[in-house]
Amino acid sequence: MDSKISLLCFLVLASSLLHCARSDGSDSRLLKGINSYRASLKVPALSENNNAACLAEQLAKQFKGQPCTNTTGANTVPGTEQQFPDYPKYLDHCHLNASVTEDGQVMPACVPGLVPDVVLTNYTKSQYNQYLNDTKFSGVGIANEGDWVVVVLSTSTGSGGYSPAPPGSNWAPSVHPFNQLILLLVAIVCLLMM
Ligand SMILES: *[C@@H]1O[C@H](CO)[C@@H](O)[C@H](O)[C@H]1NC(C)=O
Ligand SMILES: *[C@@H]1O[C@H](CO)[C@@H](O)[C@H](O)[C@H]1NC(C)=O
Ligand SMILES: *[C@@H]1O[C@H](CO)[C@@H](O)[C@H](O)[C@H]1NC(C)=O
Ligand SMILES: *[C@@H]1O[C@H](CO)[C@@H](O)[C@H](O)[C@H]1NC(C)=O
Repeated sequence: MDSKISLLCFLVLASSLLHCARSDGSDSRLLKGINSYRASLKVPALSENNNAACLAEQLAKQFKGQPCTNTTGANTVPGTEQQFPDYPKYLDHCHLNASVTEDGQVMPACVPGLVPDVVLTNYTKSQYNQYLNDTKFSGVGIANEGDWVVVVLSTSTGSGGYSPAPPGSNWAPSVHPFNQLILLLVAIVCLLMM
């Protein structure tokens, strides 16, 4: 096989593996932790909600760079959470509107280095526990940036389901898995050729 082609194949393979590893990192670890916590309470597991994840990503980007203090994230006194002036913009970006997110729950946490066990207890052993153990929530989106992780819970009702406003406008989040699929296919073809 041509050495240039094998180099290309190697790069594609490496980047697709990296990609899988990245999207399967601390976020899915936290989700597993949350779901085993729910299992221990005999509450149904949360399933991944792409639109909630999109919003979580937008919010995480805003928190990134802010230092962790005893008044940020899980340490905030309930009711004093910071408001987001650009919230409507994030909703727009994720093809959501306020009427499908009002029953959802946004939960930011700040943990230096995002140490997995500490992150999990920031959710299970804080004010957030009252939401995590609630059967009302059925979906979840998680994103992290810097020392921040944002968990967004969604319900299975219309007012918290995070379903995109006009049907079919939800193209952006679905592009991503599609790209990954192509990468994976190219990688498989490469493997077969080697
Ligand atoms: C946060 O920490 C500061 C100094 O470390 C302390 O004065 C303050 O009381 C703490 N606030 C809370 C809510 O624990
Ligand atoms: C949350 O994480 C911080 C570290 O940023 C830690 O100081 C705090 O004790 C944690 N809170 C809980 C409830 O685990
Ligand atoms: C959920 O947590 C809240 C507050 O932390 C508690 O009052 C409630 O009993 C818990 N519910 C379940 C099902 O564990
Ligand atoms: C949000 O979308 C729903 C369903 O598409 C619609 O009925 C509602 O009027 C919209 N609300 C806002 C604030 O745009």
